[in-house]
This record gives sequence, structure tokens and C-alpha cells, in this order.
Amino acid sequence: MLSREEFIRLSLENNLFWLRIMKDHAIFIENALPAPEIRLAQEADRFKQQFEQLLASTIILANASVSKESLLSGEFYTRFTDEAERLTMQFTDIDINRNLILQTTNIEPLTQYSVATAAKEQDVSLLNQSILTLMDQFISFKTGLYNNQVSCWLITSLYTAVLEHVLEEAREYVTILTSLQRRETPQMTISPEKEYFWAHLMLDHAKAIRGLLDPSEMALFNEADDFSKLFTAITDSYLVPGDNIVVPAGDATLTETIALSELKAHITRGLIECKVKALMIPLYADHLLREAYHFIRLLQY
Ligand SMILES: [Fe+2]
Ligand SMILES: [Fe+2]
Repeated sequence: MLSREEFIRLSLENNLFWLRIMKDHAIFIENALPAPEIRLAQEADRFKQQFEQLLASTIILANASVSKESLLSGEFYTRFTDEAERLTMQFTDIDINRNLILQTTNIEPLTQYSVATAAKEQDVSLLNQSILTLMDQFISFKTGLYNNQVSCWLITSLYTAVLEHVLEEAREYVTILTSLQRRETPQMTISPEKEYFWAHLMLDHAKAIRGLLDPSEMALFNEADDFSKLFTAITDSYLVPGDNIVVPAGDATLTETIALSELKAHITRGLIECKVKALMIPLYADHLLREAYHFIRLLQY
């Protein structure tokens, strides 16, 4: 059973990370829809607005309630996120509430003097419930897009594999929030299944980056290709006969996720400074970077 303190902290840390991830997904989808799909684009925009409102509520509740490690991990925002959002607004005309970054940078960490009140627990629980309701709708929306694209009834500029990937991330967020709402015992260390899940996300990222780089970016393409092969080997190493997932010996997952995060940071900076050519908005590269930072923190717990 989770203590009140753990429930509040874990809920808010997860919400700070995942709500921004979901908001980004809504932006990527809105930006990827062709002109005739205006209704779907408007729907994506409404999801973005609702995630922004929930993120704003989370930020207020998070003050003095989340760990210093989470605030410093880079998973809530990176040194590039603010500029990446500015450029995304400029080039896509999609409105983004950029105050949320500034408000997130001002969150004070949990201290020994922080008090977890019953009222706060109630507020966080209601917030989680609102998020779960919205996530249910967002998962239906993403599933519809995925099904339509895979059956060739819709063409977006997102890979079908990316639509599947963002759906998996949404399901993972729902799983986490559902178990938090049940006050299930926290796993202080990452489970083998979760580690495998995240290593797989990193593999997907390496492949997506490889596929989105401009054909002239040979050096970066080769780097992304090397990471794709490396993470294929890493994910395979978790699979043992008999359907069990076992964490392999050594620290290849952590070392290579850190290395991959450096490539993602390099590409994000390059896109912002117009030094890297790719079919990616800077916010997409920054998003992949935040997900790597999140995984790194989970591995270092
Ligand atoms: Fe994502
Ligand atoms: Fe991802």
C-alpha cells in the first residue's frame, strides 16, 4: 500500500512527465494531418488544450511535492524545450501555452518540511481521475488514427509505427495512473518488464530518427542506424526462453540510453540552429530526448 506522501509524489512526478508527452503527441498529430482532415486536426487541438489545463493544475499541486531528482532529470523540460516550442508555434501555427515551461522551472522540490495533507491527497486523486477520463478518449482517438492509417483510409505524415508507438505510451501512462489510484505498492526499482518496454521505446526512437533524417545527413544516419542495431541486440537480450523477461547482466541499457540521449540532444540543437536537416520539428527531437531522460532516471533509481 502506498503511503499518502508516495501517492502524491509519484502521481505528480508522473503527471508532469506524461501530460507534456501527451500534449506533444496531440501537437504532432495535429501537425501531421493533411488539409482535408480539418475535423481530426481540431480534435487533436482540443486534446492539446485539455492536456495543457491538466498540466497547469499539476504544476500548482507539484510545488514542494516532487523530488529534486525528478526536477533535475530533464524529463519535464530540457534546455531546448522552450525554443523548440517557440519554433513549433512559428512554423505550424499551432498555439502552445509556453508559460507552462516557466511555471515548471519554478517548481520547488520536496523537503523534509513538506506536509502531505489529506486535502492534497484528495486533490491529486481527483486530478488523476480527470486525466484517466481524458486518456480514455485520447486512446480511442489515437486508435482510430492508427486503424485508419494501417487500412489505408488515412494518410498522415507520421509513420504508422510512430502512431502505434504513441498509443503504447498512452497505455503505459494509464497503467501507471490506474495502479497509483489503487495505491498499489510502488516498485522502487524498475521491473524487468518496464525496463524492456522502455528499451523497446528507445529502439523505436533510433529507427524513427534514422528514417526521418535528410538523405544528405549520412554521418547522423549511420549513427542512428548503429543505435537501431544496438538496441535490437539489447532488447533481444531481455528475452529468455519460456516467455520470461529478465534483465541482462551489465549496464548496456543505461550506457547506450545515455549515448542515444546525446545523439538526440545533438539533433535537437542542430534543428533549432538550422545545422541538421530532417523531416522533424525541433519539438519532436526534444520530446524523444525527454523520454530518454525519463528512462535514465528510472534506471538510476
Ligand atoms: Fe512520445
Ligand atoms: Fe517515444
